[in-house]
Amino acid sequence: MEVQPSERLQKLPAYLFADLRRKMAAAREKGVKVLRIDIGDPDAPAPDAVVAEMVRTVDDKSDADRHRYGCDRPVNEFPQAVRSFYQRRYGVQLAEDQVVCTMGSKDAIVKFCLGIMDPGDVGIAPVPGYPTYNIGHVFCGGATYQLPLRASNDFLPDLDEIPLEARRQAKVLWLNYPNNPTTAVAPVELFARAVEFGRQNNIVIAHDAAYSENVYDGYEAPSILQVPGADEVAVEFISLSKAFNMTGWRVGAMVGNASAVKALNTVKENIDNGSLRAVQFAAAKALDMSEQIIPPINAVYRRRRDMVVDALNGAGWQLEKPKATIYVWAPVPEQYAGDSGRFAADLLDKTGVMVTPGRGYGEAGEGYFRISLTYGDDVLAEAMDRIVNMKA
Ligand SMILES: Cc1ncc(COP(=O)(O)O)c(C=O)c1O
Repeated sequence: MEVQPSERLQKLPAYLFADLRRKMAAAREKGVKVLRIDIGDPDAPAPDAVVAEMVRTVDDKSDADRHRYGCDRPVNEFPQAVRSFYQRRYGVQLAEDQVVCTMGSKDAIVKFCLGIMDPGDVGIAPVPGYPTYNIGHVFCGGATYQLPLRASNDFLPDLDEIPLEARRQAKVLWLNYPNNPTTAVAPVELFARAVEFGRQNNIVIAHDAAYSENVYDGYEAPSILQVPGADEVAVEFISLSKAFNMTGWRVGAMVGNASAVKALNTVKENIDNGSLRAVQFAAAKALDMSEQIIPPINAVYRRRRDMVVDALNGAGWQLEKPKATIYVWAPVPEQYAGDSGRFAADLLDKTGVMVTPGRGYGEAGEGYFRISLTYGDDVLAEAMDRIVNMKA
């Protein structure tokens, strides 16, 4: 029997990267040394202290619940660590019912949609943007109103341009700063405006803060919960993936509006039953040690950022160094204007370097490509050499 995918799966956008993956496999077969610099998955392992806490707690025989459902037997240290982190980092006090442990943001974004959206509802998502917001809407039988982020406005949205119809139908508006893929950062004033917008239109403002700790040159990314009264309408997703080199661990949190937290909790109780207790203990350790753990990780990305941006600028690009995220977002060379897919394919064909075409983040990402800094210095240096020489 050939299983037919559901309509929901058929509604997912065509996977732009499938063609590039085929090209990559073909290049490898021809013996080309392919250099991938496209995926945002940290190359370094999780910090030793975090791994040690995981190892200790996974086999802690004094904890009779250590291998049982994490939802039913949550580790109190985890939400406490999240609350303490918010207090230290942002001066924000979270109540106990304002925190839920997640299996990373990607999972939680879709489950949150399942908790608040019905068929026919709309979610407002930025483009270019992380594709999972739209996927969450589609999985609920809903649709996406695309909110453009334009270079001319520093890749910040203009909420006033959202039409009345979309405001009426929308259940949620997604923001993501520091931003993937554009690397833009947002002032807290944008969050204040979004909170006001959420209140006026009865829309949840969901801020995806996956890169809040990947920051450089003294920049500190604000939290939407720093806006007074934000928790009336806002939630924030934090993730340990990028800040702590813990992508594979699948752990993060959603915080903010208590009824929204409850909705996500209910979905989780019905689908995933929570994370292994040892993962929760280890995540608590990571957050408790954030001030020690994060700076050396960021020092590596800053060095790579400088190397990549300097190489591109030396070859004629005019990029500013991003203040945050683990990416560099650059316009495609002029001869490829309007076709980032062709640039990525040509780059792969001619040099063996794999970058992410901006079109993969929605039409508004066209004209750009993204480099990830999560590859070794040697890989990035050789890749930059090849890119720069192709352009010349
Ligand atoms: C903007 C954004 N949000 C969320 C995620 C998912 O992170 P997690 O590993 O927490 O699921 C990513 C991963 O690339 C991302 O870029």
